[in-house]
Amino acid sequence: MSKLFNLRSFWYSLSSNQRFFIRRLYYLPKDTLDSIMGKRHKYVPPRGYIYTGSPASAENYLKQGQHQLQMLQKYANLQPKHSVLDIGSGIGRTAIALTDYINNSGSYEGFDVVERGVQWCNARIHKEHPNFNFKYVPLFNDLYNTATLKATEFIFPYVDNSIDVAFSFSVFTHMQIEEIQHYFNQIYRVLKPGGVCFSTFFLYDEGSEAFISTKKDFSFPVKRDGFRLMNENVKSGNIAIDKKKLSKMLITENFELVTIIDGFWKDDVRDTAKAEYQDMMVFQKV
Ligand SMILES: C[S@@+](CC[C@H](N)C(=O)[O-])C[C@H]1O[C@@H](n2cnc3c(N)ncnc32)[C@H](O)[C@@H]1O
Repeated sequence: MSKLFNLRSFWYSLSSNQRFFIRRLYYLPKDTLDSIMGKRHKYVPPRGYIYTGSPASAENYLKQGQHQLQMLQKYANLQPKHSVLDIGSGIGRTAIALTDYINNSGSYEGFDVVERGVQWCNARIHKEHPNFNFKYVPLFNDLYNTATLKATEFIFPYVDNSIDVAFSFSVFTHMQIEEIQHYFNQIYRVLKPGGVCFSTFFLYDEGSEAFISTKKDFSFPVKRDGFRLMNENVKSGNIAIDKKKLSKMLITENFELVTIIDGFWKDDVRDTAKAEYQDMMVFQKV
């Protein structure tokens, strides 16, 4: 096991509150310096608040959001007039980019299981863009919170056939398999006929399974039926799913698979032609 893997295991062994606290403390000097140097942006949280991945400077956080928007335009044919649903809206990374894109005919709905992320988005983004709505839903996720409600029983609070484009960036990489199946069911219900969902995953097939189970620094050693976990104790830590299993899960909900675009997470040597770290998938309600 590499040093980095041990560090990840240690990180996973902490409670979500401990992780928030350590991150805040670790980035406090940089965050303070950013404030002094005027490098903050009104919509971008300080690095220590960014619990959703690698904390970045305001400039880079905005760039990441722009990149997500480009992916949605390119692969999900996102249009300014669309009504969109951001599943696992986090702390507003994609929403910020969309505020300059979605017009008054369109709308944005996002929800997440971490209250402080949703509070940030409502205080900063919703306040200035009333057609951007963020909801906190207290669903349990063993990486992010200690809530009690089950994601497998969550009925999305949106009406049937109302969404043009649903999307989730790096969310189905942090949920359990039954939860993902249930979310597919809910996405199907709320999408308009012809509507699409764009989601990122860690995907593997027979050719790559052995490699990802032992891959240096980022591996999925725990084998389950059609999926693999990074850590036995934190089941939502990271999940990789067999492409065949995922196709079956989509078929169960009547979805049609439009495309899979491989990311570079499982490259031995990074293929720079690939635009995203995670694998991207687009599926449609026909
Ligand atoms: C890696 S972060 C990505 C956040 C955001 N999509 C982005 O790109 O910045 C994963 C997010 O999924 C959220 N999440 C985890 N389980 C969830 C669930 N059952 N329903 C909705 N969101 C969930 C987490 O709280 C976290 O905000």
